Amino acid sequence: MWLLLSLGVFVVCFVNSVNAICESPCSCKLINKKSTATCSNTNLKTIPRSLDPNSEELDLSHNLLTNLPDNVFRDVDLLNLQSIDLHANKIETIGEDAFRGVTNLRKLDLSDNRIATMRPATIPRWVLVLNLNGNPLKRLEPNSYLASPVLRQLFVERCEIDFIHPNALLETTGLQVISLRHNRLKHLNETVFKEQKQLVTLQLEGNPWDCDCSLRRFRDWYYKYDQGTVTCQSPNSLNGTVWKKLTSFDFVCK
Ligand SMILES: *[C@@H]1O[C@H](CO)[C@@H](O)[C@H](O)[C@H]1NC(C)=O
Ligand SMILES: *[C@@H]1O[C@H](CO)[C@@H](O)[C@H](O)[C@H]1NC(C)=O
Repeated sequence: MWLLLSLGVFVVCFVNSVNAICESPCSCKLINKKSTATCSNTNLKTIPRSLDPNSEELDLSHNLLTNLPDNVFRDVDLLNLQSIDLHANKIETIGEDAFRGVTNLRKLDLSDNRIATMRPATIPRWVLVLNLNGNPLKRLEPNSYLASPVLRQLFVERCEIDFIHPNALLETTGLQVISLRHNRLKHLNETVFKEQKQLVTLQLEGNPWDCDCSLRRFRDWYYKYDQGTVTCQSPNSLNGTVWKKLTSFDFVCK
């Protein structure tokens, strides 16, 4: 019995010490009970091989990655990841099978890269939190990479978005939080968020909203989410006025 126990302790310690081995410039350790590989700010152009394959979180933020080819995580044997942080790289292209095999992935941060477009199935359908802030995405279209019914939080701030197709979010029915702050939206169709029955937070400030009659129906729908921070930019007479202070009748046709 004692022999087994001490053997067990020995095996656990041994496995732990192996887990801690990590190719430079990365370091691997337990953070909040998760095996975490940290490689941020180290001028990486590719994902290092021989990181701990048990890693649950991978921090690659502030590096020089330009693309994520197909099977890139499978090739370095990182299939146990739950969270991948690629914030502030130079990523332009992502293979539609880049995340293939990373079946536990829950949180994906692609913010502040150069992503203008992605193929439809690129974002795994099991991701819960997706951050796309600070990418040159111009439009949200139907049948796109946004197809996950379990996605709960979607961040698309500072992205140059000027159009959202009424059916763009038809499949992301589980969204609870959406942020579209600081884009180039002037109008939105009131049906855009109709499938998001669990929506709690919808942030829209920092867009050049054109408060004419074609925004009226959307504004009326949005009223229950409005925290009083969204403002009109045009017409001139309403520039800077918060939506919440306006009535439907203020949204007049030109
Ligand atoms: C809003 O979208 C619906 C559904 O696609 C469409 O029928 C309607 O014409 C659109 N409304 C406006 C003002 O574009
Ligand atoms: C709207 O208001 C902002 C801030 O007050 C100002 O910088 C901008 O020039 C105004 N835009 C127009 C079209 O008047």
